[in-house]
Amino acid sequence: MARFDNKVAIVTGGGSGIGAEISRELAAEGASVVVTDIKLDAAQMVADEIIAAGGKAAAFEQNTAKWEDSEAAVKFAQDTFGALHLAVNNAGIGAAPQTIGDYDIAAWDRVRAVNLDGVFYGLKFQLPAMVAAGGGAVVNMASVLGSVGIAQNAAYVTSKHALTGLTKVAALEYTAQGVRTNAVGPGFIDTPLVRSSLSPEALTALEGEHASRRLGTDKEVAALTLFLLSDAASFISGSYHLVDGGYAAH
Ligand SMILES: NC(=O)c1ccc[n+]([C@@H]2O[C@H](COP(=O)([O-])OP(=O)(O)OC[C@H]3O[C@@H](n4cnc5c(N)ncnc54)[C@H](O)[C@@H]3O)[C@@H](O)[C@H]2O)c1
Repeated sequence: MARFDNKVAIVTGGGSGIGAEISRELAAEGASVVVTDIKLDAAQMVADEIIAAGGKAAAFEQNTAKWEDSEAAVKFAQDTFGALHLAVNNAGIGAAPQTIGDYDIAAWDRVRAVNLDGVFYGLKFQLPAMVAAGGGAVVNMASVLGSVGIAQNAAYVTSKHALTGLTKVAALEYTAQGVRTNAVGPGFIDTPLVRSSLSPEALTALEGEHASRRLGTDKEVAALTLFLLSDAASFISGSYHLVDGGYAAH
C-alpha cells in the first residue's frame, strides 16, 4: 500500500519546478493528481509524463488569481477522480527587485493576487471539498521569505509572510473536521530559473547565505511536502516548516 493510494490531489503551478516534482512524486506514491497551471501545455506535459510512468493524472488550466478557476479546479478533480483529499497551493511569482518608494503598484498587485489571493481562493473551495470527502491535507507553498525579509522584494516577502497567517486560520477552522493545513518554507532552490537569473558570483554569494553552502533541490522540498500531506503527520496542523539549508538560522 503506497502512502497516497486512493487519494486525489490538486497541485497548482504543477507545470514547472517544485510543483512538477511534487506532482510526479504524489502520483508515484499512488495519488491521482490534477496538475494545474496557468500554462496548460506545461501542466499537460507533466500529466503525460505521470501517465506514461503508469500513474494517474489530468491537466487543468487554472489562473489561481481568479477565484472562479479555483472553484472549477476542485469541481474538475471531483468530476474526474471522484473526490478531493490533498492540495498543494504552490503557484507563486516574484517581481523585479525594487525599493518600496519606487515600487510599481501593478507589480505589487500581481504578486499579491497570485501568491496570497490565489492561495485563499484555493483554500476556500478545497477545504469544504475535503471535509465532504471525509478528510484531507493541504500544504501552502510559502518560502523562507515567509519568516525573514530581504530588501527590494516587498511584495514577495509580504505575500509569503501572509501565507503563514492564512495557514493558521485554515487549521483552526478545519483540523477538527479532518483537514490539516500547513505551510512549507523553502530556501533558495536550484531551479533553471534561479540559476539562469544569477551571475556565477551572485550564485556563489547566495549559496553562502545557506548554512549548507548550497541551494536546495526540488526533491528536498517535495520530501517535506509529501510528509506533511501523509498520515505520518497526523498531529501537525497550522504550522510553518522550513526546508532552507539553515538560511534562516542566523
Ligand atoms: N525556487 C525557489 O527558490 C523557491 C524558494 C522558495 C519558495 N518558492 C515557491 O515555490 C513555488 C514554486 O516555485 P518554483 O521555483 O517551482 O517556480 P516555477 O516558476 O518553476 O513554477 C511555478 C509555476 O506556477 C505557474 N504559475 C504562475 N502563475 C500562475 C497562476 N497565476 N496560476 C497558476 N499557475 C501559475 C507557472 O506557470 C509555473 O509553471 C512558488 O510559490 C515559489 O514562490 C520557490
